[in-house]
Amino acid sequence: MRHVLVSGATGGIGAALVEGLVAAGHRVTALGRDIGRLDVPGIEADLADPASLAGALHGAGLDDLHALVHCAAISPVATVADADPETWQRVLSVNVASAAELTRLTLPALRRARGHVLFVNAAPGTTGVARWSAFAGSKAALRELADSLREEEAASGVRVTTVYPGPTATDLLGEVRAAFGRPHDPGRCIRPETLAAMIVWVLGAPPDAYTAELSVLPSPREISRR
Ligand SMILES: NC(=O)c1ccc[n+]([C@@H]2O[C@H](COP(=O)([O-])OP(=O)(O)OC[C@H]3O[C@@H](n4cnc5c(N)ncnc54)[C@H](OP(=O)(O)O)[C@@H]3O)[C@@H](O)[C@H]2O)c1
Repeated sequence: MRHVLVSGATGGIGAALVEGLVAAGHRVTALGRDIGRLDVPGIEADLADPASLAGALHGAGLDDLHALVHCAAISPVATVADADPETWQRVLSVNVASAAELTRLTLPALRRARGHVLFVNAAPGTTGVARWSAFAGSKAALRELADSLREEEAASGVRVTTVYPGPTATDLLGEVRAAFGRPHDPGRCIRPETLAAMIVWVLGAPPDAYTAELSVLPSPREISRR
């Protein structure tokens, strides 16, 4: 059994991951704004304010942490012409700066455990998307954060994984597609439970090898049902 901290635990993918981890026998601590609605211990925190995280994590019982999963994100749709400084600041705070700060705060425990940090990034190939610069930019920064961390922590035995999920049937995807004016059929998407099961496997893999990057797509069989 491992102790796993999950951000974005109230979201579509995060909630499925919490369930999958618990079902696999792991101990989960959820981090979010409204964790009271989850059945696992939680840390109340707003990732829009990275500087508040040290206080939120203080005395939160994370000394025996094995793994940290960054699942939280926001995904506003706006042109560069329309995105104001508050939008950029919020996206970069929630999607990147708080991930860096959560990692920094938990690294001593993760080093002791020779543990694992897993970043849920954007869909494979998300780059140069009109009306999505803040989101795509934040995820590019998240990839760099993960890649630098992997190099820095290799000597301490901490494994770092980035997961790139294709369209996954969550509220966020529905909202994003609506904002882009695109049709949305959740039945053609990856089920959050399926993605969660893959992440649970990545976190529980034998110690001699690990997944540095994982791209997940809806299977052609699912697509052909259109
Ligand atoms: N769904 C997809 O198709 C897809 C594809 C590729 C990548 N992803 C990535 O997968 C991850 C999860 O996405 P999802 O689809 O599950 O989205 P979601 O359902 O909207 O969940 C997002 C999570 O982030 C949390 N969050 C947002 N702002 C926060 C804040 N200020 N403080 C604390 N928590 C905050 C939300 O908490 P609240 O409940 O408090 O709002 C929620 O738990 C994201 O990183 C997303 O970019 C998703």
